[in-house]
Amino acid sequence: MAKDSSKLEAYIRDGRRRYEDWLAAMVELPSVSMDPARAGDVRKTGELAVRFITALGGEATLVETGGHPVVSGGWMTGRRHPTVTIYNHLDVQPAQEPEWRHPPFAFRREDGVYHGRGTTDDKGPALAALLAARYAVAEGLPINVRVLWESEEEIGSPHFAAALAQRALVPKPDSVLVSDTIWLARDRPAMPCGLRGLLTARLSLRTGTTDAHSGVTGGAARNPLTELCALAAACVDARSGLVKIPGFYEGAARPTAAEIRGFLKSGFDVGRFMRAYGLTHLRTKDPAEVVRRIWTEPTFEVHGLAGGYHGPGVKTIVPAWGELKVSMRLVPGQKPRAIFARFRRFIRDRNPHVRVECESVLEPFHGEATGPYAAAGRRALTAAFGREPAFVREGGSIGAVVTMAKAWRVPIVFMGLSLPEHGYHAPNERFDWGQASGGMRAFAAYFAELARMK
Ligand code: BES
Ligand code: MN
Ligand code: MN
Repeated sequence: MAKDSSKLEAYIRDGRRRYEDWLAAMVELPSVSMDPARAGDVRKTGELAVRFITALGGEATLVETGGHPVVSGGWMTGRRHPTVTIYNHLDVQPAQEPEWRHPPFAFRREDGVYHGRGTTDDKGPALAALLAARYAVAEGLPINVRVLWESEEEIGSPHFAAALAQRALVPKPDSVLVSDTIWLARDRPAMPCGLRGLLTARLSLRTGTTDAHSGVTGGAARNPLTELCALAAACVDARSGLVKIPGFYEGAARPTAAEIRGFLKSGFDVGRFMRAYGLTHLRTKDPAEVVRRIWTEPTFEVHGLAGGYHGPGVKTIVPAWGELKVSMRLVPGQKPRAIFARFRRFIRDRNPHVRVECESVLEPFHGEATGPYAAAGRRALTAAFGREPAFVREGGSIGAVVTMAKAWRVPIVFMGLSLPEHGYHAPNERFDWGQASGGMRAFAAYFAELARMK
């Protein structure tokens, strides 16, 4: 045992340079799946991943999907060995925020901290899992480890099912390991068992061919931004967050009192939550209410309002056009397609001139918090980080998880490595060697547990 762990420690230590160089190469490819102009970089990131896996002695290939390609590969050590598939995503969010202190796609390492878009979501965790997989296989563990790296996660995984349909290239495993979630704090590992679903939409309205003087036309001219704001206000009560679309909450499962007690035992702290995410005001500061809202309640959010004038001062125009970007987080029991239909009808009834376009529909996910795989994950994280992971759900969404759950019906375990301060989707995103190296320990321990499982 001691010999094993010193061997793993040496592998992690000696592999640090390679981990950092590979993460640098990945971060420097701006694989922004949302931006059509970056499609070439998304593909290059996949090709780079194929080269990394091959360099580690695995086999790997790009699977075409009709959208951005998926990387599928790994090490098949024996037909009778259990197979685990590691899921991560290689695509990233845009990085246009003015608060970036350094160019987002220029990787920087500073005392074990890695800076750049994609370092924590999700390239850093992906590479930690890959290097742990290589260790497990090289140690001769009786386990097949496969890698499945998607490049459309940040746009709702629209072509992921097309990849899974190619069963020869993407074989069904016995279980899935997902490393794409956040801890509660650096000293509070978390193993979520559920994700919220998501419905994103754009509402657009044009009432003119050009912006017009509001003194000359205002009063008679229809203002698209005012009308879009009215629609937003009709959908959601801004203060309470209560969604007013009829039938929105239909079927939404309520957490049990025991589940809420479990969430509170996780060590969730409202002050720390506010500091980690830079929140200066909340709708409630009652911890039970906060965790209930972020992990188990559906929401309606406005993300952006485009059109009109955004420069200095106030320009007195009636804008010709406006676009409202919104989303709804959904929980188990809600039917995303039915909700979108109700939402569209709700908008049409109020304003038939508004164009409603659905961007993506992701179903919520609820997995097992118990059972042998969750227990193995728990032990692996505890051994690696010296703290028992907390039992939580996640408010975020990963479309591919539901696709895998439906296609394969195998256990899915979440062992994320990101921390709140790493800045998911935020400016100055980062990751660190502490989480990467601990992650390698945890994954290596997890693979060893799976190899022992009958
Ligand atoms: N890694 C996140 C999902 C996540 C977020 C897990 C927060 C745990 C906590 C993932 O990369 C993500 O950002 N998903 C998007 C999907 C959407 C853009 C289609 C999300 O949840 O907004
Ligand atoms: Mn992610
Ligand atoms: Mn993300």
